[in-house]
Amino acid sequence: MNLIYPGSFDPITYGHIDIVKRSAVLADTLYIAVLINHSKKPMFSIEERVELIRQATSDLANVVVITFEGLLVNVFQSYPIDAIVKGLRAISDFEYEFQMAQINREMDLRAETLFMMTNPEWGYLSSSLVREIHSLGGGVEQFAPPHVVAAMNRKLEER
Ligand code: PNS
Repeated sequence: MNLIYPGSFDPITYGHIDIVKRSAVLADTLYIAVLINHSKKPMFSIEERVELIRQATSDLANVVVITFEGLLVNVFQSYPIDAIVKGLRAISDFEYEFQMAQINREMDLRAETLFMMTNPEWGYLSSSLVREIHSLGGGVEQFAPPHVVAAMNRKLEER
């Protein structure tokens, strides 16, 4: 069974890494699909996000990092993928994720979404909060691996 884990990963956090590790155990191949989103101004370019994910998952032999634009179902159809995997943090995630899962299945009946409960340790974590804390001078070492924190520090210095 091959799974796809889509997201913006701007940047990858310990919350994402938890879902990646647990999904990679279940999958033959786990595709991490990074969204190229032109409407948002990301902190990291698509190439930087991919590189940060590659470094964070270098110990997992069955993880493949890909990028995508447009609809997730198109990616689903272009690779040998059996299901989409999503992490669910809180009840607040549920409604939107429920909607997306239904719409994806409406577009392609085979596009099943499997939900994995986030480890409670990371239940409150999001990339946007990590970016905000970092931009306001707070430490983010407990939320993301050292190479991600170092890349965030470099970004701040560039500005
Ligand atoms: O990390 P994010 O930003 O919460 O990830 C959201 C993502 C990339 C999974 C979602 O926005 C997505 O699937 N976008 C692709 C566009 C699409 O397929 N939309 C229709 C499904 S609702």
